[in-house]
Amino acid sequence: MPVSAAGDVERGAILAETCMGCHGIPGYRNGYPSYRVPKLGGQHEDYLVIGLQGYKTQGRGHPTMQAQAAGLSDQDMRDLAAYFASQGGPEQGSAQTGARIERGREKAGACAACHGEVGISLQSTWPSLAGQHEDYMREVILQYKNQVRTDPVMQGQAQILSDEDIADLAAFYAAQPGLFTVEYAR
Ligand code: HEC
Ligand code: HEC
Repeated sequence: MPVSAAGDVERGAILAETCMGCHGIPGYRNGYPSYRVPKLGGQHEDYLVIGLQGYKTQGRGHPTMQAQAAGLSDQDMRDLAAYFASQGGPEQGSAQTGARIERGREKAGACAACHGEVGISLQSTWPSLAGQHEDYMREVILQYKNQVRTDPVMQGQAQILSDEDIADLAAFYAAQPGLFTVEYAR
């Protein structure tokens, strides 16, 4: 399936009602383990489709999102992605500073070819990381490392990171202005 086929923003907005109880509430947390649900605002449309396909085909291991994605057709995914990608919002980096973030900045050189120098990715099929929740990124890098997420590129990247590296990198990307939570405006 070409991920770039056009999505219908208005249909996506209606489908997105089911998603907003989690993704539409700033800082909303997954129950166990406890980490914040990812920000979808500002993310690449093609990547959002790839993420949803990952849950549907179980290349990603989260049971709640697997259940959410199981009932979505390819067209539903494109419409949902078009809706989230079309929404504007204030960029929400954590704006923190400190030694961990500076260490993360140095280590992020290894990631820049795909995720960009400050976490704005260079291709629509690769996720932007700027402003994403720190605890979400720590959690999912571990999921690649533990092969709960099966993407081979990121498994290879994650394999060579220590817990300290993961914490530094997540803190760095979270502090950059970029992604945001799309809130429901109805
Ligand atoms: C019960 C809460 C909940 C609901 C409802 C929900 N999600 Fe999620 N979503 C999550 C969590 C938690 C994750 C992170 C899961 C993981 O660890 O991979 C996630 C991950 C995602 C991702 C991956 C983002 C990324 O950066 O890779 C996308 C895309 C997504 N959800 C879209 C949706 C859409 C579209 C809907 C509605 C059809 C929806 N979600 C409904 C909790 C929810
Ligand atoms: C060769 C390209 C490439 C490099 C280099 C790379 N990544 Fe990735 N990254 C990807 C792709 C592609 C995905 C999406 C994989 C998927 O579908 O699950 C991804 C996903 C991620 C995610 C999950 C994003 C989300 O929203 O769920 C994080 C976090 C991440 N990468 C961090 C890193 C870090 C940190 C580094 C450097 C140590 C790195 N990546 C290096 C291509 C790359």
